[in-house]
Amino acid sequence: MPKIIVVHYSRTGNTEKMAKAIAEGARSVQGVEVELKRYGSAWGLADFDAILVGAPTYHHNMTSNIKKFLEEIAFHNIDLRNKIGTAFGSYGWSGEAPRMVLEIMEHKFEMRVLKPPLLLKYTPDEKGLEECRKLGKNVAGQVSKS
Ligand SMILES: Cc1cc2nc3c(=O)[nH]c(=O)nc-3n(C[C@H](O)[C@H](O)[C@H](O)COP(=O)(O)O)c2cc1C
Repeated sequence: MPKIIVVHYSRTGNTEKMAKAIAEGARSVQGVEVELKRYGSAWGLADFDAILVGAPTYHHNMTSNIKKFLEEIAFHNIDLRNKIGTAFGSYGWSGEAPRMVLEIMEHKFEMRVLKPPLLLKYTPDEKGLEECRKLGKNVAGQVSKS
């Protein structure tokens, strides 16, 4: 069965709300396994067909744990080539983090990235959450076909 993982970090819960809605959307597609996880180890990532990373922007950057997560993938040469990848995150005014994550996914990990990343300002409203569900559903639809 195709597998999707939604990995995220969230300090005040906004990116977490996005991650949950993305997972909900993905789970609405039958025959796809969806894992929702707070950032952590990169081990096991190679088992997934699609990887969605949730990264809020702090100080014009991604947070150190997301950076560490990406570093770990690179350091251990975890092969993510040709897997579907995208990034998302809540932001306040500049929203660099998901763009940075997506760039690394594309250029370093050689993933098939879905652009642009999904950015929502501060706490997602119902319209924003619906965009998240749609994204999850879209990714699940793509992996279930491949
Ligand atoms: C100390 C601090 C620094 C921040 N720096 C930025 C920033 O540089 N650019 C930006 O777009 N938002 C910035 N924000 C806003 C956060 O991205 C926003 O509050 C977001 O909703 C946090 O997401 P989270 O709840 O998932 O942690 C900052 C917020 C705080 C508290």
